[in-house]
Amino acid sequence: MVSGGGSNLRALHAAAERGALGGGEIVVVVSDRPGCSGWAFAEERGIATVDFSSLDGPALAAALAETHGVDVVLLAGFLKLVPAPLCERFERAMLNIHPALLPAFGGKGFYGERVHAAVVASGARVSGPTVHFVTSEYDRGPILAQRAVRVLPTDTAPSLAARVLEAEHELYAEAAAALCAGRVVWREDGVPYYDDGA
Ligand code: GRF
Repeated sequence: MVSGGGSNLRALHAAAERGALGGGEIVVVVSDRPGCSGWAFAEERGIATVDFSSLDGPALAAALAETHGVDVVLLAGFLKLVPAPLCERFERAMLNIHPALLPAFGGKGFYGERVHAAVVASGARVSGPTVHFVTSEYDRGPILAQRAVRVLPTDTAPSLAARVLEAEHELYAEAAAALCAGRVVWREDGVPYYDDGA
C-alpha cells in the first residue's frame, strides 16, 4: 500500500524478483493516490492496482484476501489510517516501515521529513528504520525489526533521510521475507522476532 514515491515498493519488488522475499510476490498495489509513482510503477509492470478510496474497509479486506489472494500486506509510505476491518483480517500479517527508531519519533504527524527534522533537532546520535506490525493506532504496533543509522553532526533532515531510506530498503525486504516465509515467532508477551542471522 503506497501513497507516494514507492522506493520501498521498488525494493520489495526487486527482492521478490530475485527470490529474496521468502517466496512472496507482489500481486496488487493499493493507493489512496492513484497516479502516484508507486502506482505508475505497478502499472508499468502489469501488477494489479486498487484505488483505496473506491472501497470501504470490509470491501477492501475482501478484495485483497479473496480476489487477489493476498496473505501479507506491506505498507510502504501509505499515509492514511488503515481501516479496522483490514487490520483485523490481516492481524499479524500486516507490516509498516517507519523512518525512525520507534517508539520515539512516531505517531500522528510524524511522517516524511518532519521525522528526520525532529531527530536532528533532538540531538539523538542514532536513528534508523523500524518495521512493525500494524494496528489501528499510528506507529504503535509490535516492533519486528530495527536497524541503527548514525546521525552525524553535519546531518540535515534530507541527508539523514537519504541514509535511513537506504537502510529501509534492506531491512524491509529482510523482515517481509521472514513474514512471508513463516519465520516470525511470537514471544509469549506479544513481541515478534525472527532470526536475522546476527
Ligand atoms: C519511507 O521513509 C517510509 O519509512 C515511510 O514513508 C517513506 C516512503 O518512501 N513510511 P517511499 O515511498 O517508499 O520512497
